[in-house]
Amino acid sequence: LTRGDLLYEGKAKQVFATNDPAIIWMHYMDQVTALNGKVKEEYSGKGELNSSISNLLFTYLSDQGLQHHWLGSISATDELVKKVDIIPLEVVTRNYTAGHFVSRFGVEPMQKLSPRVQELYYKSDELDDPFMNDSQAVSLKFASEADLKTVYGLADQVNELLVALFNKIDITLIDYKLEFGRLADGQIILADELSPDNMRLVDQKTGKSLDKDVFRQKQGDLRVGYQDVLQRLQDALK
Ligand code: C5P
Repeated sequence: LTRGDLLYEGKAKQVFATNDPAIIWMHYMDQVTALNGKVKEEYSGKGELNSSISNLLFTYLSDQGLQHHWLGSISATDELVKKVDIIPLEVVTRNYTAGHFVSRFGVEPMQKLSPRVQELYYKSDELDDPFMNDSQAVSLKFASEADLKTVYGLADQVNELLVALFNKIDITLIDYKLEFGRLADGQIILADELSPDNMRLVDQKTGKSLDKDVFRQKQGDLRVGYQDVLQRLQDALK
């Protein structure tokens, strides 16, 4: 298999074609951004940490019977995934209040949300990923009502599995973003990455953030928390 043209460069990943039309090559970059790319910095080794964490989480999910796009890693920072058409929706699950849920609704942070909250955002850098409700997504033909039902159902399955795993390693999964895509036959599967760039993870013993909030709030080197998450996942999943 050989790497082809750069198809897309996101804020933390590059996506390349391969000589197999059903397979895509993803490269994790060391770049970290906040405020939708308005703040940018390089942390060497960050791409490798995210790639390793994402690979462990995707492997765990498939071991638990959940389908996704990840096929395998080919280097410390590069992996192969199934080609999907990405649905342009970011699916956020919130188990505890934090971030925009706190600023938007004026609630206290770190309050348990029961039931968990599911939100959609339109994936658009130009528009800063605006909030989008179901009927907006359906009318704009991003997804049918049946598709949304599938997406929310898959997000709940992922949530149940990830909450259980993180609890085992004394980490609370506060909230996170997922993306979904369609295979050539129309099946909707989990795509993108699963890393502390897209999740809020809090150490249950110390209350410390182990995710990108460390960077957003200028609390130091985010790699310390990412390394800790990776180490605990490796210990729990070996
Ligand atoms: O900013 P907000 O509180 O809405 O973020 C909720 C969760 O979704 C956080 O874990 C954040 O890292 C993730 N997220 C993301 N990409 C975005 C927006 C949010 O990964 N564009």
